[in-house]
Amino acid sequence: KLPIAVLISGRGSNMKALIEACEKPDFPARISLVLSNRPDAIGLDVARNAQLTTQVIDHKTFGKDREAHERKVHEAVKASGAELICLAGYMRVLTPWLVEKWYGKMLNIHPSLLPAFPGLHTHEAAIKAGAHEHGCTVHLVTSGVDEGPILGQARVPVLADDTPESLAGRVLVEEHTLYPKILKEFIERK
Ligand code: GAR
Repeated sequence: KLPIAVLISGRGSNMKALIEACEKPDFPARISLVLSNRPDAIGLDVARNAQLTTQVIDHKTFGKDREAHERKVHEAVKASGAELICLAGYMRVLTPWLVEKWYGKMLNIHPSLLPAFPGLHTHEAAIKAGAHEHGCTVHLVTSGVDEGPILGQARVPVLADDTPESLAGRVLVEEHTLYPKILKEFIERK
């Protein structure tokens, strides 16, 4: 199984979906590290309960030096033996330094049908734009935010009475199957 690191900042429900996938004998990855930039990320408890190695590298202790923070992240990921990084609700914009180090080996999940609605508040944006369809995207990370090559997408309808919350919930269900599916395909293709 390929060792992977999962980077989170919060709830960690996509991380949980990856944990559950990795527990299956035929899944081609195992999680060598769950790393959070926030000490209070709920997902850390989920990872600890699953007996995974966790680490916190708090970006706030590095002031404005984004690269110094990322050097520590990179070292921790490397030390865990991970050969691939999965961003799972990791809410930091990465510098070109880290992106280059992991080019072709870092995946992200984004809650929209990219290239539509990059950035934050994607569900609200989709509703405001009058989109009839919305969804999520797994893509390779490049230095343009939410711009990397698309590996897979899942679609959901936008309903007339949707709120950003109801739409987010419908998309999240799809995220949890899309991410493990695309990760598996990606590893098996390599
Ligand atoms: C997910 O919806 C993920 O797609 C999104 O944050 C949520 C994290 O939830 N990611 C981004 O917006 C990345 N810019 P989770 O912590 O429960 O997986």
